Amino acid sequence: MVALLENPLRVGLRQERTPEPLIMVIFGASGDLTQRKLVPAIYHLKQDRRLPPEITIVGVARRDWSHDYFREQMREGIEQFSDGIGSEELWQDFADGLFYCSGDMDNPESYQKLKAFLAELDGKRGTFGNRVFYLAVAPNFFPEAIRQLGAARMLEDPIKTRLVIEKPFGRDLASAQKLNRVVQQVCNERQVYRIDHYLGKETVQNLLVFRFANAIFEPLWNRQFVDHVQITVAETVGVEDRAGYYESAGALRDMVQNHLMQLFCLTAMEAPISLDADSIRTEKVKVLQATHLADIRNLDVSAVRGQYAAGWMKGNPVPGYRAEKGVGPGSTTATYVALKLLVDNWRWQGVPFYLRTGKRMPKKVSEIAIQFRDVPLLIFQSAAQQANRNVLVMRIQPNEGISLRFEAKMPGPDIRTRSVDMDFNFGSSFGMAASDAYDRLLLDCMLGDPTLFTRADEVEEAWRVVTPAMSVWDAPADPASVPLYEAGTWEPAEAEHLMNRDGRRWRRL
Ligand code: BG6
Repeated sequence: MVALLENPLRVGLRQERTPEPLIMVIFGASGDLTQRKLVPAIYHLKQDRRLPPEITIVGVARRDWSHDYFREQMREGIEQFSDGIGSEELWQDFADGLFYCSGDMDNPESYQKLKAFLAELDGKRGTFGNRVFYLAVAPNFFPEAIRQLGAARMLEDPIKTRLVIEKPFGRDLASAQKLNRVVQQVCNERQVYRIDHYLGKETVQNLLVFRFANAIFEPLWNRQFVDHVQITVAETVGVEDRAGYYESAGALRDMVQNHLMQLFCLTAMEAPISLDADSIRTEKVKVLQATHLADIRNLDVSAVRGQYAAGWMKGNPVPGYRAEKGVGPGSTTATYVALKLLVDNWRWQGVPFYLRTGKRMPKKVSEIAIQFRDVPLLIFQSAAQQANRNVLVMRIQPNEGISLRFEAKMPGPDIRTRSVDMDFNFGSSFGMAASDAYDRLLLDCMLGDPTLFTRADEVEEAWRVVTPAMSVWDAPADPASVPLYEAGTWEPAEAEHLMNRDGRRWRRL
């Protein structure tokens, strides 16, 4: 028998391996995620020769589709959302491994039907009972699908079967703990892959390399030299057609608890003892355990929410959030969040980490900025407006790279200084664009490497950190109490105050 899973302790963040033949079963196969992201990513892996020829995908959803209709839909997705089909021969080979099985998430018979179909495919395609079950469905279906997979004994083999769970994992600490219990009743933690697509981004993984493969930064990476850290994930898009989901999530659940917390962890964690999945994840949990909102009793100084009002994007008028399709005029949902976090450990005591994210901001940009302390006495005339002249910026997207800002003498007879940047750019240094996050994550879960997925305790700790803000913001409120910012502008004034109170400013990007 072919064992799907290598010992994950020895696998680590490595590449250049091919997964064993397997069936990827995607629940929610008629949805957007499958057509836009998952199947194009698997096809891309096939084009890159990263997959075995036996790779098989079974889409599961309620609609009564045929195998051929499913194949057509997936082809459209690849043509529209990735680089296209390329060779017709390759597509044909891929399409031969695409199947569809209709079923209801809450009907045990659907799981029996699926189980029999998968067994039949094992014989035809040579997939040896190896399965990855991917839950690309609305989060309220997660518990039922997991229970049913357990009851149908489809997750029994801890070596050959895996479960991939999309975000959001729970909607607060209590529901995440409950969902973890459901998961733990039917499978082993090593079978579980909780997705946070930010961890699949090359630049996010590069944070580990940058910090732990270079000796020169480590001595500076602490309270003695760092004044504060700013983590920004700004988007230009609005809520689009996702109001149904977003109204119950808001920016804190949609972006902060997961994506921004991951960026924070990788910036603040201690060095892991090795690259294996658990060493890295244990360090992330440790730093989260030491983290809290700056002042829990006085939320205004540690958390600000905002919502976009009507404004202009690229010269076009755009509606405010409350006028978006599916959003009510009295909505208090936050489309912007800023937090001030403190970390109670020897490395970071007293160093604030400011996190912010928003939709309808002027630019799509994600970065981590480490602002170093100033010199004790500045003897030069500097053109820099602001203190913290030395800044190390890790650009997650776009223009993926890293830059270090320092002072230099301006040409001329006087000694005047100006800030200049030393810049590393992924694209020009490596001559290739960073690959898509889903390519990497799907390949890793097929290979059995959980390093870039969130562990049960990690997801719970991240919820704990944001709980004080969430519990206040979840309470019914007067819509007028939610600060507004015009679409196409940076944060609301309240978020500026959060910084100014500390004598600091948000970076203008
Ligand atoms: C998703 C959120 O997880 O991440 C979206 O649900 C958001 O609201 C998206 O737009 C941002 O991802 P990226 O990769 O475009 O930064």
